[in-house]
Amino acid sequence: MPSTIRILADKEAIFRAAANEFTCLAEDAIEARGKFSVALSGGSTPRGLFELLTTDAYKKQVDWTRVEFFWGDERSVPPDDKDSNYGMARETLLAPLAIPDTQIHRIQAERADREQAAKDYEAEIGKLFGVKQDGSAPAFDLILLGMGPCGHTASLFPHTTALKESRRWVVVNHVPKFDTDRFTFTPRLLNGAVNVLFLVSGADKADALAAVLQGKPNPEEYPSQLIKPAGNLVWLIDKAAGAQLKKRT
Ligand code: 6PG
Repeated sequence: MPSTIRILADKEAIFRAAANEFTCLAEDAIEARGKFSVALSGGSTPRGLFELLTTDAYKKQVDWTRVEFFWGDERSVPPDDKDSNYGMARETLLAPLAIPDTQIHRIQAERADREQAAKDYEAEIGKLFGVKQDGSAPAFDLILLGMGPCGHTASLFPHTTALKESRRWVVVNHVPKFDTDRFTFTPRLLNGAVNVLFLVSGADKADALAAVLQGKPNPEEYPSQLIKPAGNLVWLIDKAAGAQLKKRT
């Protein structure tokens, strides 16, 4: 399916464009299917988008009672840890909008048995979508993604085992670089999405972004290259992150 690259002036322009995409996709999905399933990304970039969505300019455009929140990846920390992707979303989006727990499907990343926590998350996803794991991957209406300076996305880091996972939807992925386990959607689940929206900002991403978008296929080194959804793929990048992209003539 088509992929679109939009180069915007700066981070704030990315947030505005992402908020417009989010509200339009939510409206369409709720009208068509009565609900909007979204998997949020983590890290720091989405914070500005989440805060913008809670302002009067945007929050009134979405029937939040129909939105089901998931996370595309999580650190193996408790929900109130400063590094928790869920914790950041709760502070900047879920609490300000008073989203009820019944619509919040967080990864229980604090559990000692991480493998079971990943399997339970898969079961929770399957239950909401009414699909079994041996069937086709569930189709999230929207998956938000970021990209790290090394070209990783979600918690699919270079040369880690999750890159090759072809059956599971959610796995525990050991990341030697940080000597930690992460929970992550697999490429299979990410690529089942109806819409994938990357938010990439900052000069520190420029080299990796050029390699991901215009370099030779090398997904072991640049895992973001694995993201080829059945649906639409939109890259919202700012000028600094796009600085190494060659202009298409
Ligand atoms: C995480 C994220 C990760 C993030 C990128 C970009 O848990 O860290 O899900 O994939 O999107 O690392 O992070 P920044 O937006 O903070 O640069």
